[in-house]
Amino acid sequence: MAVDMEEIVNLCKRRGFVFPSAEIYGGFRSTYDYGPLGSLMLRNVKHAWWRSMVQMRHDVVGLDASILSSPRIWEASGHLSSFSDPLIDCRSCKERWRADHLEPDPGDDGRLHCPNCGSTDMTAPRAFNLMFKTFVGPVEDEASVAYLRPETAQGHFVNFLNVLQTSRKRPPFGIAQVGKSFRNEITPGNFVFRTREFEQMELEYFVPPEQGATWFEYWCQARFDWYVEHGIPAELLRMRAHESEELSHYSAGTSDIEFAFPWGWGELEGIANRTDYDLKAHSEASGVKLEYFDPATNERYTPHVIEPAAGATRAMMAFLIAAYDSDEVGGEARTVLRLHPRIAPYQVAVLPLSRKDVLVPLAQEVLGLVQPFAMCDYDETQSIGRRYRRQDEIGTPLCVTVDFDSLEDRAVTVRDRDTTEQVRVPLDGLVAEIQGRLAC
Ligand code: GAP
Repeated sequence: MAVDMEEIVNLCKRRGFVFPSAEIYGGFRSTYDYGPLGSLMLRNVKHAWWRSMVQMRHDVVGLDASILSSPRIWEASGHLSSFSDPLIDCRSCKERWRADHLEPDPGDDGRLHCPNCGSTDMTAPRAFNLMFKTFVGPVEDEASVAYLRPETAQGHFVNFLNVLQTSRKRPPFGIAQVGKSFRNEITPGNFVFRTREFEQMELEYFVPPEQGATWFEYWCQARFDWYVEHGIPAELLRMRAHESEELSHYSAGTSDIEFAFPWGWGELEGIANRTDYDLKAHSEASGVKLEYFDPATNERYTPHVIEPAAGATRAMMAFLIAAYDSDEVGGEARTVLRLHPRIAPYQVAVLPLSRKDVLVPLAQEVLGLVQPFAMCDYDETQSIGRRYRRQDEIGTPLCVTVDFDSLEDRAVTVRDRDTTEQVRVPLDGLVAEIQGRLAC
């Protein structure tokens, strides 16, 4: 179904997924807050990633490195010198743009036109470093400079020896990390697609140098499959290999997984072959050898790194867009988010048929039964039909209804979001039924 971005933004605001930050003060520069449903869904996206990258594997371990980081890290990684975008100003309307996002006009000697006012009176592009700089401690001098990390990666590289020694892993093995990153983007926009504060889910996978190409292919496929497994139809995704002039300063090859956003194809995740660039750069800068000694061959080498780097906030938006649907139930139009159960904010809604006191104790008992196994909503307001629609609209896969018969037969009705089919289930089989249907 063709999705209008405005409908998604409205749904997010109306149902508590995403709010503009500092809204009561008129908002704050493309920053967003994740509300009751958004915080659940974002957590689920990150957990689904962690589940398949760490929990379901034996060769990946986790890390949670600091956000405030030493300038020495970013000097060695090349970010201080190269992590910049070409900034260009329109002298006429004063709007600011990324030069690489503007199309040269072939009918006008390839000159750039300001997308706002059409003027060609533009400044020459100048490099603008995207890292947020701050000061640690009370004195704002060069010695107290720190940076907010612009990617979670680097934490993986500077901890390479710590992890190697404590986890007793050997290449090929990976370090996974999920967390906030910060970039002073020139042109944030398209809702949470490009923001200055966002969350990343990054794996650095260390391999013997000769295995780099094979693992690069492996991770491209595995990561593509992850989005499909979690509900994004394959036809809304594509792999795109970077042209050589697009490659980041550290990359010997990158492919992006792109999603068909309402405004066109956009990057969801980049898989890069970082070779030994980072480990060697940090070895040289720190004087500490970041190498692996292979006792089987008595050889010492610097592993190569394959990096699948995804955005959690951007992925959440893609899951919302892909799941957004509408149909008719009983002659009535409904909006439904067909989210994968692992991604949906709530897995189950417990709904007493009426607010009558007599149903509440059993409904609460049912809630208590299911809560240890699934995130539950509990709603006793409005008609049951309207409550089903409310749950459909936020993507809750299952509704459990407690009615007056339940008091007699200790059974409840389980309703499926997608088919709207309802089955009667005895309370003592309810948890198994729910677990079977959610399959997670
Ligand atoms: N360590 C490699 C790296 O950070 P990247 O392609 O710059 O690579 C990885 O970022 C992912 O992080 C992107 O594919 C995107 O999903 C997400 N991302 C990057 N910049 C973002 C931003 N300004 N807002 C939201 N997500 C962003």
